[in-house]
Amino acid sequence: MTGRTGKPVDAFAQTPPARPLIDHFGRHITYLRLSVTDRCDLRCVYCMKARPEFLPKSELLTLEELTQLADAFIARGVSKIRVTGGEPLVRRDVMTLIENLGARIGSTGLEEVCLTTNATQLPRFAGRLAAAGVKRVNISLDTLDAATFARLTRGGKLADTLAGIDAADAAGLKVKINTVALKDDNEHSLRQLIAWAHGRGFDTTLIEIMPLGEVDAARSDQFLSLAEVKADLEQGWTLTPLSDKTGGPARYHRVEETGGRLGLITPLTENFCAGCNRVRLTCTGQLYMCLGRNGRLDLRAALREGGMDAVDALLDEAMALKPEAHDFDVSAGASPEVGRTMAHTGG
Ligand code: 5AD
Ligand code: SF4
Repeated sequence: MTGRTGKPVDAFAQTPPARPLIDHFGRHITYLRLSVTDRCDLRCVYCMKARPEFLPKSELLTLEELTQLADAFIARGVSKIRVTGGEPLVRRDVMTLIENLGARIGSTGLEEVCLTTNATQLPRFAGRLAAAGVKRVNISLDTLDAATFARLTRGGKLADTLAGIDAADAAGLKVKINTVALKDDNEHSLRQLIAWAHGRGFDTTLIEIMPLGEVDAARSDQFLSLAEVKADLEQGWTLTPLSDKTGGPARYHRVEETGGRLGLITPLTENFCAGCNRVRLTCTGQLYMCLGRNGRLDLRAALREGGMDAVDALLDEAMALKPEAHDFDVSAGASPEVGRTMAHTGG
């Protein structure tokens, strides 16, 4: 199909948005993390309590509202949307949302729709995700030991997650493994996990635990510094820093011995906020400008009371309010500044 000038219609989609989202520190916001549910079929010990209180379903944005809000961001230049949760694939109508978003790739400024998942539902959904235009999935996996997996997820089955990983791989999705570094629990098996992932052709990212919300354990007991992990991995492995800039917080390295890429996300020991390009929308329509701060704007109320014009105006307010950096502290006795968990805000 061609436009009036004879150029392919897609060429118009590359025109920059009239009013891009730029915050007070000159950062262009082009990446939206969209949480579709706070629920999950696992109960990771660092993520939630054993008996979490989930939001009543009536609080959630509807499928139509999620799509409308995504459109408001796309109109302002957001080119990448990551669907998250909780576990996004436990929301019943999530595939319709993903298919709606996938249909916008190319015909708007949207370039990529991706997903963060624990993989348990991927045997059912991987093929449909690929067909919807999803190319990459980030899969959370903290250990390859079935007993440790069951303990860390409070009852999850390692085999389910591995089957999901196989399904994603078979469907042609590019898999990245996300691993939270945990004192005692996986600190001595990280090398094995990375070697396994790299052997399968998957990039790996290690994440330092962040003090998000109250869980049943003390954060200072769970925290493992990635500086320590890196030093340990370097006993035997050569990590060559890569300049790959994803606009994200990970610093990438090539592990010469495995040939794979290893990302390190170190919110506590090294601040990465200067390059931040993202905002997060919770499943109830609260827009957080920073994962580690409490400032938020209620896009659900704006949409319900004032429609899309009100939402658009709040996006300008969001740019004025986006803080320069987070303020995490995991020292013993520190109470979390942020009372909400990752499952609430979206990973
Ligand atoms: N700190 C760091 N990572 C976390 N995740 C969940 N809660 C936390 C936390 N408090 C991870 C999940 C998943 C990703 C989205 O975030 O394991 O890999
Ligand atoms: Fe579920 Fe992910 Fe939280 Fe684990 S970290 S309980 S998989 S949302």
